[in-house]
Amino acid sequence: MKSMKVAVIGTGYVGLTTGVTLAYLGHQVTCVDVDPAKLALLRQGKAPIYEPGLEELMELARANLRYTDQYAEAVPEAEVVFIAVGTPSLPDGSPDLQYVRAAARGIGEHLGNGFCVVVNKSTVPIGSGNWVESLVREAYEGRYGRKCRGQFAVASNPEFLREGSAIHDSLYPDRIVVGAEDPKALEVLYNLYRPLIEQSFPAPTFAPRPERMEAVPLITADLASAELIKYAANAFLSVKISFINEIANLAERVGADISQVARGIGLDNRIGTRFLQAGVGWGGSCFGKDTAALIATGQEYGLAMPIVQAAREVNYRQRERMVEKLQRELKILKGRTIGLLGLAFKPNTDDLRDAPALDIARRLIERGAWVRAHDPVALDNARRSYPDLPITYYEDPLALAEEADALLLVTEWSQYRKLDWPAMAQAMRRPLLVDGRNFLDRRALLQAGFRYVGVGVGEQEASEVQPVAEG
Ligand code: UDX
Repeated sequence: MKSMKVAVIGTGYVGLTTGVTLAYLGHQVTCVDVDPAKLALLRQGKAPIYEPGLEELMELARANLRYTDQYAEAVPEAEVVFIAVGTPSLPDGSPDLQYVRAAARGIGEHLGNGFCVVVNKSTVPIGSGNWVESLVREAYEGRYGRKCRGQFAVASNPEFLREGSAIHDSLYPDRIVVGAEDPKALEVLYNLYRPLIEQSFPAPTFAPRPERMEAVPLITADLASAELIKYAANAFLSVKISFINEIANLAERVGADISQVARGIGLDNRIGTRFLQAGVGWGGSCFGKDTAALIATGQEYGLAMPIVQAAREVNYRQRERMVEKLQRELKILKGRTIGLLGLAFKPNTDDLRDAPALDIARRLIERGAWVRAHDPVALDNARRSYPDLPITYYEDPLALAEEADALLLVTEWSQYRKLDWPAMAQAMRRPLLVDGRNFLDRRALLQAGFRYVGVGVGEQEASEVQPVAEG
């Protein structure tokens, strides 16, 4: 394999995982970030984000990794430069592109003499490839006072990694999508990803190769299609989850059980079993932002996107439904103590962006409830990011349950399955558990003395106290 020189601008989730993965595959990677605190951590071999396996992979790839705040130390020699900076939402839902703009300028000012592929890995609006190209060109010509011809090409290479499984998803992707107009750029990226495509690298012990893993398909596309693939994938997954939640709400009314329904439809290969888990709905840094951006793009081109719009409405309404479930059980929320199990938007991350738990906490607080919360890793982040929210944080789930009127499970951390549920029930003022992820064993909870309320389970099922006798 030919080792290539790579620069990655931005060491957030996507940037750092990409950089570390490419370094592990044998490329020489320089990561650029403006944040001195992050750089200091990275240089000590520590990851600034919580991501299983990331520090281990950083360690294995250490010899191929450098960190700097200087474009001059990364870009001039690079054959490939990734733009992996943040694109947070503006109030109107459109993405804030100031960091992409700054990165494109920085790259243009430091382009070397060799051919370089500038790759957009940030999720950017459709058409950004052309825009980035003009920014890089302008910055180059502004600095050197000469035309830059054929020195660089822009490509789009969207990322599909999931937080909490980022290393696994980077090493064993379902597909790699590369969009570019210039065939030379496609060839460079093919060579860059060759070890991934052929799966010719040794699998790290902490991230074993899935069984029956074959070559990874490389999808080549034009720039606009590659950009649209990213939005369409995230929007589709958001729609899929909202769809099952909509059916779950009906299942509650008609006395059906959504997990049976999900299995019954999911085994149809055209539908697929994944992303049909009903519950409090989606959160995180991607789905909310990307669906909003897709709708904003539609509007820009005079097109309404009612399906994506509805997926958002169903999703955010689902959070209110959790509060309604508590209210239905407790009648009055004012003055009640509610314990939230889980704050992170999903397990194995401390990420609280668009986390349903915080939204639910706010709604409960507005109705006068006392809110407590436990999370195995996200408490520090919550204290830091939401100092104004009057939530009491607990390191110990049993202490959280003490004298509480209800528990609401928001994040399906695996350790919640192993809690001492009889002791939890004993500690509470009222042993009520709303399982916002249908994650716990309903029978075990009933036996522990809980009243158990799930999502998408008909009322007679939910309130049934005696487990069905065997035989
Ligand atoms: C997602 C995409 O999966 C990834 O491809 C993209 O690059 C970024 O966005 P991520 O946000 O890390 O990744 O999380 P993911 O595991 O996809 O879950 C998103 C949200 O959907 C979570 O809040 C999760 O709890 C929720 N979810 C997921 C459900 O409510 N039901 C499901 O069946 C699946």
